[in-house]
Amino acid sequence: MSNILIDGVSKVYADKARGREVTALAEVSLEVKRNDFVCLLGPSGCGKSTLLNMIAGFEKPTSGSITVDGEAVTGPGADRGVVFQQANLMPWLPVWENVAFHLKMRGAMKAIRREQAQIYIDLVGLTGFENHYPAELSGGMNQRVGIARALLMNPGVILMDEPFGALDEQTRMDMQTELLRIWEKSQGTIVFVTHGIDEALTLGDRVVVMSARPGRIAEVLEIDLPRPRDITSPHFNDVKRHILSLLRSAPAETAAA
Ligand SMILES: Nc1ncnc2c1ncn2[C@@H]1O[C@H](COP(=O)(O)OP(=O)(O)OP(=O)(O)O)[C@@H](O)[C@H]1O
Ligand SMILES: [Mg+2]
Repeated sequence: MSNILIDGVSKVYADKARGREVTALAEVSLEVKRNDFVCLLGPSGCGKSTLLNMIAGFEKPTSGSITVDGEAVTGPGADRGVVFQQANLMPWLPVWENVAFHLKMRGAMKAIRREQAQIYIDLVGLTGFENHYPAELSGGMNQRVGIARALLMNPGVILMDEPFGALDEQTRMDMQTELLRIWEKSQGTIVFVTHGIDEALTLGDRVVVMSARPGRIAEVLEIDLPRPRDITSPHFNDVKRHILSLLRSAPAETAAA
C-alpha cells in the first residue's frame, strides 16, 4: 500500500485583492511509497509549498483527494512531521525544550521530555548544546533542532519545505549528508521541497519535476545513482541536463504573469 496518495488534486486560491482566482495546482496525482525519499522540484510559484501544506493538512484541496496510510487528510496530525525553511523555534526555550515541545503540548512530564529530547539531540549531532538558546546557535544548528523536533514524534512521514534554503553552500551540503544519515538510521517517508537541482539529485530516490502556471507534474524521475552521490559524475550531469531542459520549458512565475 502506498504511504501517501495524491489523486487528481487541484488548488485554486481566491486572490481577493485583485478579484480573481489563482490556480496554484491543477490535477496533480502522485503516489509515495513508505520509506521513500521524494523531492519536489520546480520554479518559484509552481505550487510546491501548496502541495506540501495540503499533505501536512494546513490547506485543503479544492478538488481531488490526499490520503496518508489510506486515511483522508483532514488536518495536521502527529503522523506527519513538518520542517520549514526557518526552524521557527521558541527563542525563550533551550534546545532540549524546543525539541520536546510537542510532548509538552501533550502534557508529558519534564523527565520524560528531557529523556526523549536527548535521543533526538544526539541523533542530529547536537550533543552538548541541550541548554543553549536558539540565538546562540548557527542557522544550520537551528535547522537540526527543527529536524529533531519533527523526528521526536516518530512520524511516519516527514515533510520538509526548503529546510536548507537559508544556509550557505557548505553548510547545506553538510546538512544533506546529515539528513541522509538520519533517514537511513530512523527510516520514514520524506517529502522534500527544493528548487535546487543538485539538492534534489543528491537526496531523492525520486525527483518530481513540476511546471508552473498552473502547477503540474512535468515528470517523475527515478534516481538510481548510488549514495553518496557524486555531483560531478557524468551520469549525475546527464540527469541534471534533462531536468534543466524540463525547467527551461517551465519558467518561474513572474509579476507580469
Ligand atoms: N494563500 C494564498 N492566497 C493566494 N494565492 C496563493 C496563496 N498561497 C500561494 N498562492 C499562489 O499559489 C501559487 C503557488 O504558490 P506556492 O507557495 O505553493 O509556490 P512554491 O512552488 O512553493 O514557490 P517558492 O519556490 O517560491 O516557495 C503562487 O502563484 C502563489 O502566488
Ligand atoms: Mg514554497
